[in-house]
Amino acid sequence: MSLLSTKHLLGINDITLDDINLIFKTADNFMEVINRPIKKVPSLRDITIANVFFENSTRTKISFELAEKRLSADVVNFSSSSSSVTKGETLIDTVNNILAMKVDMVVMRHPAPGAHQFLARHIDANIINAGDGTHEHPTQALLDAFSLRQKMGDLNGKKIVIVGDILHSRVALSNIYCLQRLGAKVRVCGPPTLLPKHISSLGVEVSHNLKESLTWCDAANMLRIQLERQEDKYFPSLREYSLQYGVTLPMLEKLDKEIVLMHPGPINRGVEITSEVADSEQSIILNQVENGVAIRMAVLYLLAGKAND
Ligand code: NCD
Repeated sequence: MSLLSTKHLLGINDITLDDINLIFKTADNFMEVINRPIKKVPSLRDITIANVFFENSTRTKISFELAEKRLSADVVNFSSSSSSVTKGETLIDTVNNILAMKVDMVVMRHPAPGAHQFLARHIDANIINAGDGTHEHPTQALLDAFSLRQKMGDLNGKKIVIVGDILHSRVALSNIYCLQRLGAKVRVCGPPTLLPKHISSLGVEVSHNLKESLTWCDAANMLRIQLERQEDKYFPSLREYSLQYGVTLPMLEKLDKEIVLMHPGPINRGVEITSEVADSEQSIILNQVENGVAIRMAVLYLLAGKAND
């Protein structure tokens, strides 16, 4: 079996193009498995996985849990609100206590950027980043690129615009790394206040004009305004944001080609996209969710192989 170049999945920045292609190839096989009447394989039967979530999640947590169960792993779930973290326990102590119960892999979401890098230096288990603050969300970027590739074929030379709150979004950074590695041209579009100052140093185009960006692109990834991470005001109101950066059906109908619309969820219908757009033929939002399970199965399976070396 081929293996990943890494023991952990901390971010897309830490993995190679070969890793990404291997994850996609493995996910293709798992897509076939999850569409069978019997969706379960015994691949991780002896592996115990802890899902450790210090931040809210719906999709990502359910998706990881389903992926783990489809691979026959034993699964334990931990969320910070119901744990001893509220009693002052440190991150390393919390995770080491979980590992002492013979856990092999840790899937973690944490509000602090770099929390996973820090943990990887101190513990033995495989760590998978399910989102670290405003930094990276690698499995989301993998499932986004996988879904685009399913819809449009090879991403080499394809034009993808990421729209919205780039400053606070971990999905944006992981997507930029992943899409560029696959040869796509990436643009970010949003109000100047929501684009990091030096973003062009990542090799992306920068635009503040949504209509022009929709004309330019083959696909648009619409990101949520991360109000929970914004201490200051970055725009006058959600209504005004939406008037300038929200995608509507008439806007899509005016284009001379059909572009693909994506969203990592949760959607704020009527802010970043209207309901009509979210539910349109051009939207691959639910394909993203479906593909997420296969991508996470692939990541877990490949990392477990590495651990058993
Ligand atoms: C994203 C996240 O948590 O970063 N959601 C997700 O994982 N499906 C995006 C978001 O919260 O807007």
